[in-house]
Amino acid sequence: MNLSDQQSDAFVVEGVSKVFGGFRALTSVSLEVSHGEVRAIIGPNGAGKTTFVNIVSGVFRPTSGRIALGGVDITSFSPQRRARLGLARTFQITSLFRGMTVAEHMELAVRGADTSGRARAELLELMGLADLAHREVNTLSHGDQRVLEMAMALVLGPTFLLLDEPTAGMSVAETDRMIRLIGDRLRGKIGVIIIEHDMNVVTQTSDIVTVLAAGAVAASGPPATVLSDPMVKELYLGNAASH
Ligand SMILES: Nc1ncnc2c1ncn2[C@@H]1O[C@H](COP(=O)(O)OP(=O)(O)OP(=O)(O)O)[C@@H](O)[C@H]1O
Ligand SMILES: [Mg+2]
Repeated sequence: MNLSDQQSDAFVVEGVSKVFGGFRALTSVSLEVSHGEVRAIIGPNGAGKTTFVNIVSGVFRPTSGRIALGGVDITSFSPQRRARLGLARTFQITSLFRGMTVAEHMELAVRGADTSGRARAELLELMGLADLAHREVNTLSHGDQRVLEMAMALVLGPTFLLLDEPTAGMSVAETDRMIRLIGDRLRGKIGVIIIEHDMNVVTQTSDIVTVLAAGAVAASGPPATVLSDPMVKELYLGNAASH
């Protein structure tokens, strides 16, 4: 694979490896996510999923390999520079400020960029938060807080969104809402890369599932095919109890 041959609007990871000290956390991981696709990344504990997200978002540099977004090699770009190019992410840990309202958080997320108030209002509408705009965030349900974090990540109009376990700690109803948001509202509009432990979410939102195991891609394909693969089931044996 050659970065310059890629479809210009794709997100491309090419031969990425990461070594921590003497430990190989990722070994030559390659994948390509097209614009509008929802890609799930799954794998047992310690497979390298969080390491992958941190490399893709620019928190860590890969030991080797390259990452490209829209035909631009972003391997050495800071997280901020990646975000300006259209790669947004949410974090596993809630990062909202008590006492500030939903609308104020949306202002904060703009970070000085030139976006209209109307665009922000439309985004709150899309995410089902419009009625909560003037509520202080600490009065929101856990689910609404996570959805607000997604709305904040979307405010600059990214072309790709990285979601690190968006349904962690959610009730069944909140998870169903997240499934609809990702599977119905975002799918087809932007590329989404979702790290997810809940196979129900994976099946209902993603076009393609990539399985990481021991730092390498073990399988990749449509959810129905990948999740019924005996080799993939085997990877989760003895691990299922933790998720
Ligand atoms: N900063 C680091 N220094 C050393 N080793 C690390 C570091 N970060 C991760 N690792 C190791 O790399 C491997 C992959 O970790 P990672 O957190 O990416 O896995 P994961 O797939 O996200 O697991 P989980 O499902 O438990 O969240 C683990 O063995 C972990 O101990
Ligand atoms: Mg992890």
